[in-house]
Amino acid sequence: MDQAESFRQIAEVLRAAQRTAIEVENAPEKRKRLRSFSVQEAAALLGTTPRQLRQAAGLAPEGKGIAPRARLDFPELQAARAALGRMPRRDPARGEALATVVFTNFKGGSAKTTSSVHCAQYLALQGFRVLLVDLDSQASSTAQFGLDPATEVKASTCFTAWLRRGAGAAPDLAASLCQRTYWPGIDLLPAGAALAEAEETLARRAASGEAEEILYFDELAAFLSAVAPRYDVAVIDTRPDVNMLMTTALHAATGLVIPTRATMTDLASTAEFFAHLASYTADYHAAFGHGLDFAFARILVTAYDPTDRSQEALLALLRERFGARVLPEPFLHSRIMGTAGFGKETLYEYEPSTDRAAYNRVIASANAVNQSIEDELRRHWGRAA
Ligand SMILES: Nc1ncnc2c1ncn2[C@@H]1O[C@H](COP(=O)(O)OP(=O)(O)OP(=O)(O)O)[C@@H](O)[C@H]1O
Ligand SMILES: [Mg+2]
Repeated sequence: MDQAESFRQIAEVLRAAQRTAIEVENAPEKRKRLRSFSVQEAAALLGTTPRQLRQAAGLAPEGKGIAPRARLDFPELQAARAALGRMPRRDPARGEALATVVFTNFKGGSAKTTSSVHCAQYLALQGFRVLLVDLDSQASSTAQFGLDPATEVKASTCFTAWLRRGAGAAPDLAASLCQRTYWPGIDLLPAGAALAEAEETLARRAASGEAEEILYFDELAAFLSAVAPRYDVAVIDTRPDVNMLMTTALHAATGLVIPTRATMTDLASTAEFFAHLASYTADYHAAFGHGLDFAFARILVTAYDPTDRSQEALLALLRERFGARVLPEPFLHSRIMGTAGFGKETLYEYEPSTDRAAYNRVIASANAVNQSIEDELRRHWGRAA
């Protein structure tokens, strides 16, 4: 067997394993589903009491008559939220524009995808309309949402299609690329290997220096403004290195979250990332006379193990040197995420059957992280956090 053929076979076996994992996840309807929520969980999400929630959702009060239904699905949760007058959606009439949060760092495996997906799910659970943009051709976020990047994502169904559009493109092209997911509050602009063409196209346009109607680095911002009326927040997951797609994300960003583990190697990469950010924004300012100004740029410490003395020391150091630049809470390390396989569940999907205390600790940390990000968005919109 020649070498190319053996590589092809390896690729095929691994792809088949990925497909099987996704099919298992999606069974029986060949799609992942969002779990339902207990009345207690739903009440906590809505910031209300179980009693008020039962009233708003039209459920029988606890302890009366037949056993009250104990669970709400997502549409019921949203209906209860509307009944309680607690829809947080942005108000364009008050100048609240689509906000874009970009998760980015040079370090591979620093939990960019985990952080993006949890942030998107948290914001959807709060009632925001979220677009998750996967800008990494490795497509981990896409797979997390039950799509098989190898077979279900093509050049015609990812950001590449936007860059290929000609003068006669359908007016709803951008909207048609945003797919519904099994989370009713989250749409996905998926990624796959076909995104490599987008990277090449942007690089070619950057090198050509030709005058353009839309500058290459503004393409993602242009895409987002085409779909903005449908969403409150866009959450962007990027690839770990300097790349053109990441540059377009910086240009579209309202704010940045830079996930890093509290280890020396991660912090070294994070230092390089900030050095890049400093020189890129300075060059941009010199060329265009105005800044690339972010409403916020926060370091997020991920997969944090509070029993590890060296991590504890590095977190303390980050806080001492950078203060509010570091999000107040770290995202705790969790075996739920550390051990689960492909197409795994997030903390917001997982239902613990054992060791609820450990689950409660880690989900509390995820909520605290995401609430800090939500507070940044609210501040940006001029609302009280
Ligand atoms: N809080 C956590 N606890 C345990 N494991 C975690 C946690 N956060 C992330 N991980 C694990 O670390 C690995 C890398 O995470 P993730 O894929 O989110 O990183 P990434 O920065 O997106 O990686 P890449 O640079 O390849 O895109 C994954 O296996 C993930 O499950
Ligand atoms: Mg990733």
